[in-house]
Amino acid sequence: MPDNSILPSRKSDHIRINLEKDVRSTLTTGLEKVLFIHRALPELNLSEVDTSLKLFGKSLRSPILISSMTGGTTEASRINQTLAEAAEKCGLAMGVGSQRAAIEDQRLAYTFQIRKYAPNALIFANLGAIQLNYGYSIEHCLKAVDMIEADALILHLNALQEALQPEGDTNFAGLLPRIAIICRQMPVPVIVKEVGWGISEEDARLLASVGVAAIDVAGAGGTSWSQVEMYRMEDVSLARIASAFRNWGIPTADSIGMARHSAPGLPIFASGGISDGIEVAKCIALGATLVGMAGRFLKAAAISLDETLTTIREIQRELQVCMFAAGAANLELLDESKLIQFKDM
Ligand SMILES: Cc1cc2nc3c(=O)[nH]c(=O)nc-3n(C[C@H](O)[C@H](O)[C@H](O)COP(=O)(O)O)c2cc1C
Repeated sequence: MPDNSILPSRKSDHIRINLEKDVRSTLTTGLEKVLFIHRALPELNLSEVDTSLKLFGKSLRSPILISSMTGGTTEASRINQTLAEAAEKCGLAMGVGSQRAAIEDQRLAYTFQIRKYAPNALIFANLGAIQLNYGYSIEHCLKAVDMIEADALILHLNALQEALQPEGDTNFAGLLPRIAIICRQMPVPVIVKEVGWGISEEDARLLASVGVAAIDVAGAGGTSWSQVEMYRMEDVSLARIASAFRNWGIPTADSIGMARHSAPGLPIFASGGISDGIEVAKCIALGATLVGMAGRFLKAAAISLDETLTTIREIQRELQVCMFAAGAANLELLDESKLIQFKDM
C-alpha cells in the first residue's frame, strides 16, 4: 500500500512551490496564434452582452471555472473557502483538489467542504483516476461527491506527474475500462481532465467512447507539473529528469481542437495557462464550453478574498468587452467565425 501520510505534506509542497517558484511550461498555450476580428461596428449595446450559461443544471454568470487545486491542510482549507466565496459571489464554477487525503482520513474532510460558502455554485469533486487501479471503486467516488455535495465528479489523469514522483502510482494499464464503470454507475456527471499536458485526439475519442460527460483538456502553456515536481526533488538526478519535461505536452489551443474533433457534441472544458478574459473568449470561440484557471486564482486567493474578487471581476469584464468588440452578443455567437487563426506565427 502507498504511504498515505505523505499526502497532506505533498499538498503543502504543491501550494508553496506554485506560489514561490516559476513553474510555467516553456511551451505557450497556442492562443497567441488566435486573434479576434475586431468589429468597428459591433451593433451591440455593451451592457447587454450576455456571458451567462447553463451547465449540468446550474446557472453560471460566466463560463469560468476555478480549476481543481487543493484541500487536505489548514492552509488549503482557507484557500478553498476564499475561492468558494468568490465563486458564489461571481457566479463561477469551482473544483476542489484531489480528495484522496480525506477519503483516507475522514478528519480532513472539512478542508474540502465548501458547499456552505457556495450554496448555489456548480461544484466539482476530484479524485485521481489512477486510484481506480489501486483499489478505489464506485464507493470511493460516491464518497468524494457526497463529502462536498458536489454536482459532478472530476477524475484527473496525471500519468507523467506520477512517473516523475519517486512515490508515484504508475500502473496506468487497463484504466479506461475502470473509468467506463464509474461513468456508468455514478449518479452525477463524470468529467475527465488532464493536469497541464493536454488531451490528444485519440484520448478524447477513447474517453468519449466510455461515456464521460465532459473533457477538460488542461493543456500545456501554464502550470507545468514536471517543474513543480522538480522543485520537490531532493535527489539531483530525479530533479534533472523532471526538468527535462518542461516543454512537454499538447498546447491548450491545439488540445481544444483535438478534443473537439474527436468528441463532437461533448462539452469540452479548456484550461492550462489561461491568463485573462480575452483568452477565455478565445477558448470559447475555439469550441470550449467552460474555461478553467488554477495558478492565477491560487495566487489571488493566497492574498485575500478582495484580491480574488478583483481578479475575477477583471477577467469577467475583459470577457464581456472582448465579446462586444468581436461582435458576439452571447456565448453561442462566440464561434470560430469571429477569429483569425495564424498557423505559423
Ligand atoms: C496548487 C495546484 C494544485 C493542483 N491540484 C490538482 C488536483 O488535486 N487535481 C486536479 O485535477 N488538478 C490539480 N491541479 C491542476 C489544475 O487543475 C490545472 O489543470 C493546471 O494547473 C493547469 O491550469 P493553470 O495553467 O491555469 O494552472 C492543481 C493545480 C495547482 C496550481
